[in-house]
Parts: sequence; C-alpha cells; structure tokens
Amino acid sequence: MAKNRLIHRPRRLRKNPAIRRMVRENHLRCEDLILPLFIVPGKNIKKPVISMPGVDQLSIDKAIEVASQAEKLGLGGIILFGIPDSKDATGSDARDSDGIVQKAIREIKTALPDLFVIADTCFCEYTDHGHCGPIKGNSVDNDATLTLLGEAAVAQAQAGVDMVAPSGMMDGMIEAIRRALDEAGYEEIPILSYAVKYSSAYYGPFREAAENTPSFGDRRAYQMDSANRLEALREAALDLEQGADMLMVKPGLAFMDIVRDLKNNYDLPLAVYNVSGEYAMVKAAANQGWIDEKGVVLETLTGFKRAGADLILTYHALDAARWI
Ligand code: PBG
Ligand code: ZN
Repeated sequence: MAKNRLIHRPRRLRKNPAIRRMVRENHLRCEDLILPLFIVPGKNIKKPVISMPGVDQLSIDKAIEVASQAEKLGLGGIILFGIPDSKDATGSDARDSDGIVQKAIREIKTALPDLFVIADTCFCEYTDHGHCGPIKGNSVDNDATLTLLGEAAVAQAQAGVDMVAPSGMMDGMIEAIRRALDEAGYEEIPILSYAVKYSSAYYGPFREAAENTPSFGDRRAYQMDSANRLEALREAALDLEQGADMLMVKPGLAFMDIVRDLKNNYDLPLAVYNVSGEYAMVKAAANQGWIDEKGVVLETLTGFKRAGADLILTYHALDAARWI
C-alpha cells in the first residue's frame, strides 16, 4: 500500500539525539545563572530556610564556601540579600559601610576577586516595618527613599560590588542611583533594574528567608498589579531612560509573556527572577516523588531562555549548573 506522501514531516528533525542537538534553538549555559544568597551576621551559620529546601541563611564565612562553588561551576554570579541584626525605620544597616551586605561584599570579593557579585539594593530586609523604604502616612515615601537608595548603592560600591540591583519599585530609583554612583566616582558600576516587578504571592518563601514581611499592609502600592501588561513596557521605558544597564522581570513563570514583550521591545540584556515560590513548588513536588526535579528545572530554565531572558536569577543555579 502506498504511503501518504507528506512533503513536510517535522519529525525528520527529531529523529535522534544528534539531529535534535543540531537544530536546538535555545541553550542554557552556566553563565546565564545567578545564585541568590541570604547573608546573616555571625560565624559558622547555615540555617535552613524551611520553605526552600536546599537554601540556607549563611554567615559570611559559609557564604564564601557556597560562592566558591558557584565560581567553580561557572555561574554568571551571585546576588546578595542581607538580614541585619538590628532593623530601624529607615533601614540604616543597608547604608552603613559596616552593614551586613557591605561586609559580605568586601569579604567575598577578597576571597574570590573574579566572581561577579551583585547586591540587591532595597530596604525591606533592613526596616523594622518590612517595607521597601521609610513610611509616610500609610505607605512608602517615594522621594525620601530615593535619597536613601543612592546612599545604599554607594555603600555597596565602596565595598566593591560589581553591580547593584534596585528592587523596591520606587519611581525614579534608577536615576537617583545613577546620579549618586556617578557623583561618588562609580560611573562604571552598572545597574540591573528590577524594572518590572509584580506584587506576587510567589514571594512567600522569600519572606521567611529574608525576614522582610511587611508588619502592616502589603506592597501593592509600589509593586505592579499582575493583571497588567502594557504597564510593564512603560516601566521598562522609564528605567531605560533613567540609565538602567539591564532590565529584570519578576516573578518568572506566571510572567513569561512579559519577558518576551521586553525582549521584543528593548535591546538591553534582560534578566528574569525565578522566585522563591516557584522554587518551593518544584522542591515540594519533587520531594513527594511527583515530578522529576532535574527534568522540570532544566525545562523551566530553558523556557526562560526561550521566552527571551539572557540571565536567570534562580535558587536552582548550583544544581542546574551540575546538570547542564
Ligand atoms: C524585596 C525582594 C523580594 C524578592 C526579591 N527582593 C520580595 C518582596 O518584594 O517581598 C523576592 C524574591 C523571591 O521571592 O525569590 N525587595
Ligand atoms: Zn524591598
């Protein structure tokens, strides 16, 4: 019996591993991955974050060990979040030259000068009310926060950070930080803007890790409404105008369309944050034996690349680098 004569048979290009590899469109590389680390004061501390199996709060000495693995595995870099001993209304520790993150930057860069170290630049881990800047009335005082953000970024630069990453969604934050860095002589330090950061239930586990739960209200008056798409383009345009060197979309999985939108509209390097809740769901299901962790993680991270991300901030970074 004659076979169907099909001119187009896409399966020809899927026939075996060799041809699949040859025509593969997107590739996950170790240098695409950025590992977030949570730094606490003290020595020899490795305190598990219960909702994020495999993630710990680390004292600086322990963080250096993990950072060294990150370097050996060829990750793009690490991003630091600090949890200070004492918090206050304005988050002073984030601006202090001896603040927890400044110390961590200094010691990590001394131990591992070639590892690329990014600092999250925000106040929610440092304020006693857990918001991303000082409070006026019942919300964050935008313009007062801008001045403080400039000071925090300069403190991070003085400590030797390679790039700052403001995450507070304050209007004008990129301009304020650019100006402060330039005035202090740090015109060569790039800014990775969390330009498009949505208010999200996926940040739940991070709040345990970073101890930054707001003591009242929520962040909806500064983080974006997850129903909005056009607003993401406006946010990105503003940050670009203000001098952002790279843009970020956050969270990742529920916002893949936004990653693609930004990639199609702007030519800056683009990062995506594969956030704590996304990590926790994978870990929980894998722990039950309900999914294949390696398969799911690599598929997800490759999906971010396909969506248009150049860089991926992910708690899976070390595992993924071993699997690639
Ligand atoms: C705070 C900040 C948050 C995350 C990164 N920086 C949480 C928040 O806005 O409440 C979330 C990261 C994650 O969930 O993994 N500026
Ligand atoms: Zn914040």
